[in-house]
Amino acid sequence: MLSEKVTVQNRSERNRVDRENMIQECKNPIVEDDFHGFLHRNCEGTEQLRDKTILLGVTGSIAAYKIATLASMLVKQHADVHVIMTKNATNFINPITFETLTGNKCLVDTFDRNFEFQVEHVSLAKKADIALVAPASANIIGKMAHGIADDMLTTTLLACKAPILVSPAMNTNMYENLIVQDNIRILQKYGMKVITPASGYLACGDTGAGKMPEPETLFAYIEAEIACEKDLAGKKVLVTAGATQEALDPVRYLTNHSTGKMGYALAKAAVLRGAEVTLVSAPTNLEPPLSVEVVPVVSAQDMFEAVENRFDGTDILIMAAAVADYRPKEFVDHKIKKKEGDNVLELARTTDILGTLGARKRADQFICGFSMETEQLVENSRAKLEKKHLDMIAANNLRTEGAGFGTETNVVTLIRPDDMVELPIMSKLEVAHRILDHILRNK
Ligand code: CTP
Repeated sequence: MLSEKVTVQNRSERNRVDRENMIQECKNPIVEDDFHGFLHRNCEGTEQLRDKTILLGVTGSIAAYKIATLASMLVKQHADVHVIMTKNATNFINPITFETLTGNKCLVDTFDRNFEFQVEHVSLAKKADIALVAPASANIIGKMAHGIADDMLTTTLLACKAPILVSPAMNTNMYENLIVQDNIRILQKYGMKVITPASGYLACGDTGAGKMPEPETLFAYIEAEIACEKDLAGKKVLVTAGATQEALDPVRYLTNHSTGKMGYALAKAAVLRGAEVTLVSAPTNLEPPLSVEVVPVVSAQDMFEAVENRFDGTDILIMAAAVADYRPKEFVDHKIKKKEGDNVLELARTTDILGTLGARKRADQFICGFSMETEQLVENSRAKLEKKHLDMIAANNLRTEGAGFGTETNVVTLIRPDDMVELPIMSKLEVAHRILDHILRNK
């Protein structure tokens, strides 16, 4: 049987091998300057939790089974995940499940002699980058609020100085009980973040508030706390995304192939780095990132109004949206019926949002545009940079493999008035981080 220490050694060995494989697999060579960011976020752009120690506290609720999915998601991001369960939680899910998923011993009893660390509850509390208690029963919330430490989870949490997230999950009446609400306020007073439970059909048969959010949402909360350095804290970032729709009649519209992925990745990267982010989004099929204010728009004119209204209070504007340059000259309020023969559609120019705002930009504001070309990428994009008074333009060629509409990756050249950086193929999230790095460096 393997000792715990060997398991840990195996994990760092596994991480080393993974890193080497990752470097081998990345198709394009990277320049020295890129190396640090590359290892942090890799070519998939999904490794922001690598080597972070995450403590999951699981208490007695039917939602406990969902934490297996969360643990697995975190392990896939190469986080070092430790699970501590209350005795009641073991009635809902077996500790072996967590041990198998995380490669770490799942702790339940404070007096278990088969431990890995010297004084387990203190060592784990010190080692943790973050702790999440989910599902958090009314019982643990009460104990945490009043400093009770009578098992492994409560003692560890009391010794933990890392950020603590709490995701309540219980029957609606229990959740709404004033005692529980008071206890939640006490947790908040002491700096813990309490995740508002979702509403819906509960296991007890009632419908209402008290449902633990899905593992993807819990993952996003963890990511928001520890994935990135908050180097954009205090900055207001406005991002646009998606393809505008220009209506012809109640049935038809003109649009383009943009899916909004690049703009959503920018909004996510900026919010993870601590910015206050507003995302003006044309219709997409994407889930907005956590903690981003979303302003839904449809047409180029809607987008212009939404961006213009917010521009004065914005530090950084990034226009990733594929805005229509033309709209049908007339909107017909009934369905246009077909006739014999061909038809001609008259088009009118839309407002150039960047052009208009670039002309009145303050010196302390930064504007980044996007440029998609099929030929003469640098010349055409540089012309847009100058004409629209931009600080930077991210140019990509639709014909380059790995760039363009709907792909998970992008290949961009960042052009500024007096320099230019060609980035290799990378995920859209990684491109987003590079764009923000350049903005911070040049702002
Ligand atoms: N853009 C804008 N308002 C428009 C059209 C485009 O603000 N009405 C922005 C886009 O969001 C992008 C940048 O301008 O950030 C460049 O868009 P692009 O369509 O590549 O350039 P255009 O200036 O429209 O030129 P062309 O279509 O001729 O390439």
